[in-house]
Amino acid sequence: MSIHITAPEGSIAPVVLMPGDPLRAKLIATEFLADAALVSSTRNIFYYTGLYKGHRISVGASGMGCPSIGIYSYELYSNYDVQHIIRIGTCGAYHSNLRLFDIINVAKSASESTFAKEAWGFAEEVMLPQGNAYAIINETAAARQQAVLDTSVHTSDYFYRANPELPAIAAAHQCAVVEMESFALFANARYLGKSAACLLTVSDIIPTQQKISPDQREQSLLPMIELALESAIR
Ligand code: HPA
Repeated sequence: MSIHITAPEGSIAPVVLMPGDPLRAKLIATEFLADAALVSSTRNIFYYTGLYKGHRISVGASGMGCPSIGIYSYELYSNYDVQHIIRIGTCGAYHSNLRLFDIINVAKSASESTFAKEAWGFAEEVMLPQGNAYAIINETAAARQQAVLDTSVHTSDYFYRANPELPAIAAAHQCAVVEMESFALFANARYLGKSAACLLTVSDIIPTQQKISPDQREQSLLPMIELALESAIR
């Protein structure tokens, strides 16, 4: 048990897939895992462990933003001996040269967040994927002939903001898309010497206000979920 996860010791697998939304974790467990067991539901942040093609994996939510993924990823790595976390999320595109449903394997995350500096003394405004998870995802995608973009991402602390200009940090690091969690996940993995990667599906194009509709959302995330599952057992 940890403060925010009440799974019994040993009930979480070394590889965890981490969507933001607890109901997405439930959907992945129900649709893709055999013998899936709900191992923690504290605060309705669900964690499941089951078998994917005979391999034991866990899936559980991060919640939204750096503070939330900072808590869950830290407790998984340090209290449950998790070795790899693959975040699977959505992002908004800053440029209309990206398309809805494009899948991104995050190559680096730039952020105005103070998370890495205040938590671990990492002064850089860019955090990188850690360990071999990022390379494994690229190899898996190539083997499946699945298109994946290698992109720099802005991890924002602000979903709503008054200023419509491209944030300075995104401009400085040529970030094509924005999400809210990968920077803190990578910082925790770096501090703890663990493996972390982040897959994102483009769910909205900010300049044109195009969006994946709520009806399309479940189906549209399946290619990313399958890539994460196949990478997790590679
Ligand atoms: N901003 C931040 N995070 C997001 C967005 C966005 O526009 N879309 C999906 N995740």
